Amino acid sequence: MNDPFRPDLLQGKTTIVTGGGSGLGRSTALRLASLGAKVAVLGRRPEPLAETVKTIGDAGGTALAVPCDIRDPEAVRQAFDRVEAELGAANQLVNNAAGNFLCPSEDLSPNAFNSVVQIVLYGSFHCTIELGKRLIARQAKGAVVSIVTSYVTNGSAFVLPSAAAKAGVLAMMRSLAVEWATYGIRLNAVAPGPFPTDGAFSRLLPGSEMEKQALRRVPSRRFGEHWELTNLLAYLLSDASPYQTGDLVTIDGAEALFSGQQFAGFAHLDRAMAKELMASLKPRK
Ligand code: HXC
Repeated sequence: MNDPFRPDLLQGKTTIVTGGGSGLGRSTALRLASLGAKVAVLGRRPEPLAETVKTIGDAGGTALAVPCDIRDPEAVRQAFDRVEAELGAANQLVNNAAGNFLCPSEDLSPNAFNSVVQIVLYGSFHCTIELGKRLIARQAKGAVVSIVTSYVTNGSAFVLPSAAAKAGVLAMMRSLAVEWATYGIRLNAVAPGPFPTDGAFSRLLPGSEMEKQALRRVPSRRFGEHWELTNLLAYLLSDASPYQTGDLVTIDGAEALFSGQQFAGFAHLDRAMAKELMASLKPRK
């Protein structure tokens, strides 16, 4: 497939991707670097970060691995300093790092709740504020995209810490979009539906039966492919979308809408069969 974007779409951007060593974060880092961004990947484990950086370097891109626990504001400050020294000051951020697990809420310990909220909400806060402060100080424009989820609006049973934290991240993006528009800093949230990754799928959709069930909720009848999400992120981070801020963009094959629509199940029937069924229900004259 021809690349829909110019290869220099993100030239001049220095982009921090949290959780950039694996899953969607890794795919995002690779894609942004392929479009000319200098990419710093932050995460707790050095090995996956190094692998991402090597893959980007082998493809001719520029990247830096910065081991960092984003729950610690001082570690985040030092990570931004290192990015600035080695790649140039960051002007973009993808809040991607996340933690999540399935658990009945009555069985959650305070520490279990805290472990997810610290990564998702506090981690995104520390990184976003650090970037914002630095952009404002040097009067530079910038962009932030936070990866939330398609259950950010309605919540979700059995993933309460994630649902609460991601809703907080969305509120943070929307609040700051208004507060920081005057500085030329844009903030958006993207809500992906099911995009297969080892991390999320092993924790949230263990086994092929759960995966099949998940597929039944997607009118597009397939899971997302990483390039579909990373192209959206590239667009939102690029100068092609200067007026888009404070938005929540859903990319889920209409999964979230399906779950809320009473007659949506018909979309999964063979269309000829559905038409026959509906015709049979028409009142006879
Ligand atoms: C109940 C659990 C638990 C589980 C951990 N805990 N897993 N409780 N059920 N399955 C509890 C522990 O008992 C402990 O509480 C507390 O949580 C902290 O656990 P640790 O393992 O010590 O924490 P830590 O090593 O920091 O791990 C954080 C984590 C882990 C969130 C628990 O899952 C993680 O690191 N995940 C990162 C990767 C990830 O989750 N990616 C998927 C994101 S997908 P006590 O009280 O015992 O001390 C996503 C998108 C959703 O977010 C959309 C999908 C469609």
